[in-house]
Amino acid sequence: MELYSTDNKTHDEARQGEAFGTTQAKGPFDKFFYVESYGCAMNFADSEVVASILEQNGFGSTRDIEIADLILINTCSIREKAELTVRKRLTEFRKLKQQKPGMLVGVLGCMAERLKSKLLEEEKLVDLVVGPDAYRTLPDLIFEAGTGQKAVNVLLSRDETYSDISPVRLNTNGISGFVSIMRGCNNMCSFCVVPFTRGRERSRDAFSIIAECRDLFEKGYKELTLLGQNVDSYYWNNPETNQAVTFAQLLESVALIGSSLRVRFSTSHPKDITDDVLHVMVKYDNICKHIHLPVQSGSTRMLQLMNRTYTREWYLSKVARIREIMPDCSITADIIAGFCTETEQDHQDTLSLMEIAQYDLSYMYFYSERPGTLAAKRYEDDIPEEIKKRRLQEIVDAQWIHSNESNKRDGGKILEVLIEGNSKKSDQEWMGRTSQNKVVVFPKLDHNLKTGEYVQVTINDFTKGTLLGALKNN
Ligand code: SAH
Ligand code: SF4
Ligand code: F3S
Repeated sequence: MELYSTDNKTHDEARQGEAFGTTQAKGPFDKFFYVESYGCAMNFADSEVVASILEQNGFGSTRDIEIADLILINTCSIREKAELTVRKRLTEFRKLKQQKPGMLVGVLGCMAERLKSKLLEEEKLVDLVVGPDAYRTLPDLIFEAGTGQKAVNVLLSRDETYSDISPVRLNTNGISGFVSIMRGCNNMCSFCVVPFTRGRERSRDAFSIIAECRDLFEKGYKELTLLGQNVDSYYWNNPETNQAVTFAQLLESVALIGSSLRVRFSTSHPKDITDDVLHVMVKYDNICKHIHLPVQSGSTRMLQLMNRTYTREWYLSKVARIREIMPDCSITADIIAGFCTETEQDHQDTLSLMEIAQYDLSYMYFYSERPGTLAAKRYEDDIPEEIKKRRLQEIVDAQWIHSNESNKRDGGKILEVLIEGNSKKSDQEWMGRTSQNKVVVFPKLDHNLKTGEYVQVTINDFTKGTLLGALKNN
């Protein structure tokens, strides 16, 4: 599961709902659940926590929706389009339910939190609604729903981190895994629904994170991504020693698990990423040289309205600092076009910032007003859709040029690639990633290579979003 797509698509396009599950469930299960996940990597990681809770309670996972007794959809509210996709899917599930009375449908995640019991009452599309902090109560809720009661729990928590739950890896290549290190967000960016759907920020027990990472490494995983909405504000106080663990320290501890374990992290908020984190990245070769550093806009006026708490200049000085400390580090971003009151000049400021930052890749969106957010309450969503779309297209076009230039710069380099599997197009080619998170495809030839191995690849060409190469010395 990749956090970021390799071409300039939006998250929605990159991550259309994915069904998870082991077709042949392990263990003596008499009931089966099917889960489909949308949205960010944290939601996908949560589905694995849900799978663990359900397996403990007699439900096996399945990828075959036809045999499921329980269909779960783990939802995203980040933009209107994300919610529309889920609603469409729910109407399809309703049809299935008509053919299979007794089957339950549950909504999990951010839409559950945002819409609460509305989903049960108004839509009559679902049997249970469970918010992101209430997954431990799923077994009770399933029981209640089975007896025809309203089953809703959308309570947010100040301390739930599911730290003691060992996630069941559902859709895995056994090489790359995701580990949640924190939940929620305290930032209140004015456009964003996440603080409302995920609640207050809280950091997970560092020991449980390291134990989970070590366990995955021992099982053969070679690349772990530490996840949080704002990983740089990770801060966990060890109650025994009363000493705090920062993100830089956590990152170092995970890197020390094994030099053949690649470590990634996402997402960094530009205001919180510290030099300490950058220095730890330099110190360990196995910490991948890639920082996802969402900018949102290149105009200081927009950034203020967005409540991002940095200026254009401050952001660019962060980019310069990263390049100074790690010239080989890739930088990617999220950008929003057409936020409230955005002028043509503000938009030009975004384009000129992109020109300076030279992102290797970006996720680009046009602004979608989300009910309940600060922007929805305070500002008018006043940029007409055609203008939003035109500006977005200009941003996408600029990124296209920068991504190509970045790929061109890799021509002739010998890069270390972790093999993840066959390329999409051919089983005669391997697909893997560089430390900078770029996808590389190269012919297998007749070497006895396996997934999970590191190889040196000479880059000789590229297509949209993919570097092409050949094994070194071949
Ligand atoms: N926590 C991360 C981002 C989480 S949401 C961070 O702060 O960087 C992922 C991206 O979705 C955001 O970076 C933003 O670019 C985009 N986004 C969030 N709310 C949006 C909205 N209302 N309309 C359009 N894009 C939005
Ligand atoms: Fe949303 Fe901002 Fe928090 Fe990211 S940092 S999740 S954009 S409020
Ligand atoms: Fe979407 Fe919720 Fe993640 S709104 S982006 S699934 S935190």
